[in-house]
Amino acid sequence: MKFFATSCLAVTSLPLLVVANGGYERHAQLARQVAVAPSGAPAPAVTPPPAPATTSYSISLLSTNPTAVPLSDIVSTEATSATRPLDSTYTPGSIPTFLPGAPPLPNAALLSPANYPALDIPPPVDNPLVQQWIQEVANSGVPIPNISVNNIGGCQNNSVAAADPTRCWWTCGGCTRQTDITECPTPLTWGLTYDDGPAYYTPDLLNYLDQENLKSTFFVVGSRVISLPNTLQTQYMGQHQIAVHTWSHPPLTTLSNEQIIAELGWSKKVIKDVLGVTPNMMRPPYGDIDDRVRAISIAMGLTPVMWTRLSPLATFDTDDFDIHGGLTTVQSVLNNWEEIMGNVTTMKTGFIVLEHDLFEQAVQVATGYILPDALARKPPLTIQPVIECLNKPLKDAYIETNDNSTNPPAQSGVAVTLSSGAPGSVQATAKPQSSNGNSSSSTTKGTKGNGASSGIDTGLLAGALVTIAGVAAGIAAVF
Ligand SMILES: *[C@@H]1O[C@H](CO)[C@@H](O)[C@H](O)[C@H]1NC(C)=O
Ligand SMILES: *[C@@H]1O[C@H](CO)[C@@H](O)[C@H](O)[C@H]1NC(C)=O
Ligand SMILES: *[C@@H]1O[C@H](CO)[C@@H](O)[C@H](O)[C@H]1NC(C)=O
Ligand SMILES: *[C@@H]1O[C@H](CO)[C@@H](O)[C@H](O)[C@H]1NC(C)=O
Ligand SMILES: *[C@@H]1O[C@H](CO)[C@@H](O)[C@H](O)[C@H]1NC(C)=O
Ligand SMILES: [Zn+2]
Repeated sequence: MKFFATSCLAVTSLPLLVVANGGYERHAQLARQVAVAPSGAPAPAVTPPPAPATTSYSISLLSTNPTAVPLSDIVSTEATSATRPLDSTYTPGSIPTFLPGAPPLPNAALLSPANYPALDIPPPVDNPLVQQWIQEVANSGVPIPNISVNNIGGCQNNSVAAADPTRCWWTCGGCTRQTDITECPTPLTWGLTYDDGPAYYTPDLLNYLDQENLKSTFFVVGSRVISLPNTLQTQYMGQHQIAVHTWSHPPLTTLSNEQIIAELGWSKKVIKDVLGVTPNMMRPPYGDIDDRVRAISIAMGLTPVMWTRLSPLATFDTDDFDIHGGLTTVQSVLNNWEEIMGNVTTMKTGFIVLEHDLFEQAVQVATGYILPDALARKPPLTIQPVIECLNKPLKDAYIETNDNSTNPPAQSGVAVTLSSGAPGSVQATAKPQSSNGNSSSSTTKGTKGNGASSGIDTGLLAGALVTIAGVAAGIAAVF
């Protein structure tokens, strides 16, 4: 009964996600899906669909899960499956021994939704805690560029912003800065990520990951954490990396500075209240980030993590999210996966892929097909949470356990640059990174994100200084 009650809360959010998603990530995917080369191998585990029209599947995966849900059943209209109970739950006070210095696990039963904002809408900014976070951002020394708030409706509805390279708006052209994590440094290394949970089918994914001894990064939505705190505790205690994916999943460039701070601040807070630790990485919903959102994230101790994008036609987005809404098919998602696998063998770096654990269809594709295929690849892929694919220990992923030796906080890099990188200096005039991350236009990104030096990145500040007229005026006046 308790579970049913929480289920109602979460379900209200789903239409929001579907509607909002329409304007953003899917455009590149549609282009990717144009050329589908039929492959020779028969589809595994196909059962004839009940409808009169026959659907055949053309994929060539190296391995599938013997217990995979048949492809023909992974559709938007599929019946809601029974949910799996968590394999492990943890008593309050349990010690995360794998994270030196981490506090004991809080009591998730004490979490009171009344102490948090309403779910699935941007939190009010007049709350005293939000006001405190706004002040902390202002005090951080990170200049927030005076970039206008975007309209909803993506690039088409924001022609000036879309055409303005100084904003480095990822959504329209894939611009990234050196502070963005977009790949893993080592070839054939996959920084495994799932977004939008914790959700009802997250336990199925965790069960499979446990079975294969895989660890992932989960970009969690604060509103979902309120609904399923025990699931988040199991993810964390299972030594997966937990990171921030906002409170209500809006496109962040459409929010005011104060609203962005409220989205990120409440997400950090609910995660800390449930786990005892605070993540230091975030992923912007829909990848919707510009230099304003970057600066606010970094001022709040959160390093942005994107997914790999080699070109407009090679964005490492499986589009698994859209099966649930009927906007794509499992065939298209697996075609996207195969194209990604085709790309990674020639890349000079590893990679990060966009996948989700919100809906059962996406979890079924991941556990039945994508992960078994990944595990069968030759040469083998190394599959790790993002923090570990960057050659850093898991403890570096949380503010309380990071000793800052191998993973200095991003704002310290900005602060260093602030005092040395005056407007007009090399730092201040550095170009935005291309989507490949190499400002010299190679197809691989080189040394960014590799090892201990990556915490001191100057690219973000460079953009900020180009965009604002004066650093001192910008900090004080933008709010
Ligand atoms: C474009 O932006 C305007 C102003 O915010 C908004 O009213 C309108 O609904 C947007 N159009 C689309 C198609 O999103
Ligand atoms: C990535 O794969 C796509 C689809 O197979 C291909 O068209 C594209 O050329 C590849 N891109 C790179 C940079 O390898
Ligand atoms: C690491 O940096 C953060 C942010 O500047 C700071 O709050 C924290 O105390 C530092 N940790 C250590 C162990 O110095
Ligand atoms: C960037 O690309 C240029 C030209 O392709 C290449 O010479 C250079 O080594 C690359 N830099 C990095 C850091 O990968
Ligand atoms: C920010 O930009 C707007 C629009 O260009 C302008 O009206 C405003 O004065 C600017 N604010 C600051 C602090 O520069
Ligand atoms: Zn998301």
